[in-house]
Amino acid sequence: MNEVSTESLRASLTNRTVLVIDDNEAVLTALDVLLSFHGVRVLTARGPEEGLAALARHEVELVIQDMNFRREATSGEEGIRLFREIRSRHGDVPIILLTAWTHLETAVELVKAGAADYIAKPWDDARLLTTVRNLLDLRSAQAETRAIRERRRAARAELAERFDLRGLVYESDSMHTIVSMATQVAHADVPVLITGPNGAGKEVIADIVQANSSVRDKPYLKVNVGALPDELMEAELFGTEAGAFTGAKARIGRFEAANGGTLFLDELGNLSGSGQAKLLRVLQTGEFERLGSNVTRRTKVRIIAATNANLLQMIREGRFREDLYYRLNVIELQLPPLAKRREDILPLAKHFLTPGYTLAPDAERALVRYDWPGNVRELQNVIRRACLLAPEPTIRAGDLNLPETPSSPADEPVLDRRTIEQALERAQGVIAHAARDLGLSRQALYRRMEKLGIKTTESVRPASDS
Ligand SMILES: Nc1ncnc2c1ncn2[C@@H]1O[C@H](COP(=O)(O)OP(=O)(O)OP(=O)(O)O)[C@@H](O)[C@H]1O
Ligand SMILES: [Mg+2]
Repeated sequence: MNEVSTESLRASLTNRTVLVIDDNEAVLTALDVLLSFHGVRVLTARGPEEGLAALARHEVELVIQDMNFRREATSGEEGIRLFREIRSRHGDVPIILLTAWTHLETAVELVKAGAADYIAKPWDDARLLTTVRNLLDLRSAQAETRAIRERRRAARAELAERFDLRGLVYESDSMHTIVSMATQVAHADVPVLITGPNGAGKEVIADIVQANSSVRDKPYLKVNVGALPDELMEAELFGTEAGAFTGAKARIGRFEAANGGTLFLDELGNLSGSGQAKLLRVLQTGEFERLGSNVTRRTKVRIIAATNANLLQMIREGRFREDLYYRLNVIELQLPPLAKRREDILPLAKHFLTPGYTLAPDAERALVRYDWPGNVRELQNVIRRACLLAPEPTIRAGDLNLPETPSSPADEPVLDRRTIEQALERAQGVIAHAARDLGLSRQALYRRMEKLGIKTTESVRPASDS
């Protein structure tokens, strides 16, 4: 444990409320003096009853408790009972057990349940202060995480209330930003360009834009621009006169059929050069001709385009028109790959589970760790297959049949602050557990926490694992 400067201790301890429960006056006084000196508001209680009463009355942020409360009691039973009682009534209050060496084992057992630590009597002041600080910091971090999560949840609920989100599932900030933008621009009569890798959810976002637009009750047509050879695609989009090419019948195109509504052009990067020229003209003037006709027709459609291609690169290579690109990207929504928004993985996975099925913890870890090159669609397929093939309704990591993610030490998984904080929270601050949870070595997790400025709140613990 590194030396803790008095200032940094003070910063963590000032005005925090700590309750000390011990029947020994000398212990109460000693702790009161030590903690008060560092700015702590100390409350004292002489036994379990008094302690629980104080907890009910005050906002206590940490409890330090003895294991025996009568001179003749030595079993530690009373302490265990009090510990359990505090846990059940005030679940998240961290507890430090003051214990004689003879009860170390009991204390270690209790501490494993989380948000707790123990100090052997007679204690070392510096060590005690560090432990107090670590647990208080952990509590603050958890409260902050909870507050952030609560704010996010409220923001999501508010959007879902005001807009039709088409069953979209997400938790990440990056998706929230995209969904907010999509719903905001839905009403404006401007083209929207949605970019992102395969299976990331581009079409769902297009559906959200359409569903919240002023033309939501009008036709909504989708064309996969890459699905047909060039000439047939132009016929599909703009229609044909009979005999425009061999075998061509007279038929209206999608631009006419979608008149007054919305046209979703999927895989836009595949549109031929002449198709691009015609699309640009419709966008600029609303005019077009059916193939084989010289009658100019007019249409008014809201265009939503999607592509997984890098259009800027295609422009540089002369394969995509720059003028068309700037027409289409008035609003550009860039969907990040799933690996860049890992908070979305578990909510999505649970959403895709067949009702009645659940994920075992090892399956959850495997899902969060995997890099999802096929993004949400791949996740959906993996979960559906697992539900069909798993021998029991609890899906284990093995049932997911995920390929090994190739990873060299230099290429550790991308983990954001939130994922790490959540893992730390789940592991109640025990770095070794959190690291295992995230599939990292302890050192790798430390490096990452350092880089992200996440404070270590781990206190001295039995070295049962590291
Ligand atoms: N956030 C989400 N919530 C719920 N379902 C989603 C979400 N994102 C994607 N999906 C589902 O995942 C599948 C793939 O999404 P979608 O078809 O929108 O991806 P895409 O980006 O258009 O893929 P491609 O590039 O392959 O066309 C769909 O079944 C879609 O309903
Ligand atoms: Mg798609």
